[in-house]
Amino acid sequence: MSEKVTAPRLRSLKAKGEKIVCITAYDVFFGRIADEAGADVVLVGDSLGNVVLGYPTTVFVTLDEILHHVRAVRRGVSRALLVADMPLGSYGGSIAQAVETATALVKAGAEAVKLEGEYSEEIRAITKMGIPVMGHLGMTPQSVNNFGGFKVQGKGSSGEAILQSAKSIEQAGVFSIVLELIPKALSAQITNGVSIPTIGIGAGAECDGQVQVMHDLLGFSDETFRHSKRYMDGQSAVLESMRTYAREVRRGSFPSEENSF
Ligand code: KIV
Repeated sequence: MSEKVTAPRLRSLKAKGEKIVCITAYDVFFGRIADEAGADVVLVGDSLGNVVLGYPTTVFVTLDEILHHVRAVRRGVSRALLVADMPLGSYGGSIAQAVETATALVKAGAEAVKLEGEYSEEIRAITKMGIPVMGHLGMTPQSVNNFGGFKVQGKGSSGEAILQSAKSIEQAGVFSIVLELIPKALSAQITNGVSIPTIGIGAGAECDGQVQVMHDLLGFSDETFRHSKRYMDGQSAVLESMRTYAREVRRGSFPSEENSF
């Protein structure tokens, strides 16, 4: 458990049949907790936009915003591999742009970057620079407007295209692939068809690992999703604590003598 997680080590976990645990984090406190809990990968995802910044989707997240949060999480994570998302518009324009974005994220403290879709040339160029790249296929949230909503992708014959994309980006050099909202039979096919680890979210138990948005695990959101499980009702616990604090201030029982100097 204490050995530093690296991109090559994740591949060896797949080879040994050990499941990979990935949790998102956006600040130093929760980065440290995720690390302490034994996450193999801490992801500063562009879900930052939804769960921290209040945007309706990830398409509004900027590179500067991700960089700011990568620096914070970096200060809390030591064992886990720290991966940072490349937000929409920070790649896809040119190879040079993608390399520049990945480099900025690594200089901010990330040990690997993640990008959505089949950008094989970009993946080749970034890995050539020495930066490990994680792929992301299926329901890729940056393309939500193209998909017409957050819908399961790869049903029926359309699954073949996702399988081929997985093989292409493996060839291009990704060290693992996030599979989001695809049928479990397809993720099993992809998991068996590539030699790098697959990390699923709403993609069934056959994946080599799982990733979850921290706020969904801890119940810090109004919405519940079929692909997530709440391990606590964080929102109610925090609300109750804040209400108790407010009550105590108003009736004068906080601060007490113990809290005073
Ligand atoms: O942005 C994010 O948090 C992600 C994960 C859900 C895979 O991309």
